[in-house]
Amino acid sequence: MEISRIWQWLNLPVCVLLLVKSEGSGFVPITYLEDAESKGAVCLDGSPPAYHFDKGSGEGVNSWIVFLEGGGWCNDVSTCLQRKDTRLGSSKQMDTQSGFYGILNNQQVYNPDFYNWNRIKIRYCDGSSFTGDVEEVDPINNLHFRGARIFEAVIKHLLAKGMENAENAILSGCSAGGLAAILNCDRFKSFLPNGARVKCVPDAGYFIHVPDVSGTKHIENFYKGVVETHGSAKYLSKSCTSKYGAGLCFFPQYVAQDIATPIFVVNAAYDSWQIRNILVPGMADPHGSWKNCKENLSNCTPDELDAVQGFREDFIKALSGVQNSPSKGMFIDSCYIHCQTGMQELWFNPDAPQLANTTIAKAVGDWFYERKPFQHIDCAFPCNPTCGKPVLNVKAHPEI
Ligand SMILES: *[C@@H]1O[C@H](CO)[C@@H](O)[C@H](O)[C@H]1NC(C)=O
Ligand SMILES: *[C@@H]1O[C@H](CO)[C@@H](O)[C@H](O)[C@H]1NC(C)=O
Repeated sequence: MEISRIWQWLNLPVCVLLLVKSEGSGFVPITYLEDAESKGAVCLDGSPPAYHFDKGSGEGVNSWIVFLEGGGWCNDVSTCLQRKDTRLGSSKQMDTQSGFYGILNNQQVYNPDFYNWNRIKIRYCDGSSFTGDVEEVDPINNLHFRGARIFEAVIKHLLAKGMENAENAILSGCSAGGLAAILNCDRFKSFLPNGARVKCVPDAGYFIHVPDVSGTKHIENFYKGVVETHGSAKYLSKSCTSKYGAGLCFFPQYVAQDIATPIFVVNAAYDSWQIRNILVPGMADPHGSWKNCKENLSNCTPDELDAVQGFREDFIKALSGVQNSPSKGMFIDSCYIHCQTGMQELWFNPDAPQLANTTIAKAVGDWFYERKPFQHIDCAFPCNPTCGKPVLNVKAHPEI
């Protein structure tokens, strides 16, 4: 009895280790960018930014993928203060290891096109999708708004580590990191050598400009606050800001058509974060009547489902700027999900979501290497059987 209990106890961590190992790289240690402090490229609390780096090998040594971590935004001093002493505002609070899965996996069977590249995850601690740049430090709260400087400092550091010889490079990221990959795409390209094949793969970063179900301009006002608080305007597309004003130029739909670097948008048309926070934010549903629908679209009432389908139609309209060029790609599935490239079970597993009989890994790989273009929008919910597998929810993956 006693022995079998000990055996169980010993066995558990072994199983966990085997599981992690069989799914790929597991954990990559953190590096703090100490020299960035002199350039004022710091997290909200003034601590140095940080990244995780798994070196490339073999044919991948001159190929680089830079993945930007996500985690929402802060839109004023009070919400930025709330983040300041968390992992999203301070490198002192970050886990020192990060799991590398999906597009960052180091095993060929799980990530056939990018497994041997140099793979980097930049941690998110500025709250502005890497666009902020305010010289003045908030004197009362010691808050720093320096996301754009963090981006530049880490990219320059990586160039010195060998990225200056890159032949292939991808800027990717999920959620607020996916938006950052859109907003910083041409800037990223400008740092890389002229002859390099440079492309961007934003995941779940295509946040759309729509009112919420109560008719309030919730996300518009929120992004306006982000852009003002962080002084982001000078890093947003000039042709957009001159037309629409800075606040709206945080929305991909107003900048996508002007992005010169090839870009591939991976996004669910029913992005679960967007349904929960843009279409039906808490304040638009004070009695919580949307609760079951927001948990699982199969639970929506007919009226709720109408609103959700309307959201998908708006989402598709907002993609027009991505459809104007064959160098642009898109994988717009109808799963109820948020962030897919960083999760093994959604990126390239036998039962991963498919569109036109193709997994995200295959679509992105074929597009990047110009083997095959890919621009597909899924049929409307609930038509795609490959979305059926219940997927780990966002809470189980706090790094998203
Ligand atoms: C999908 O791809 C698989 C394997 O590549 C193939 O066997 C199958 O016939 C394809 N199905 C369709 C509908 O194209
Ligand atoms: C959503 O509900 C449907 C119908 O009850 C169920 O089949 C499905 O597994 C649920 N999805 C998730 C992710 O729980």
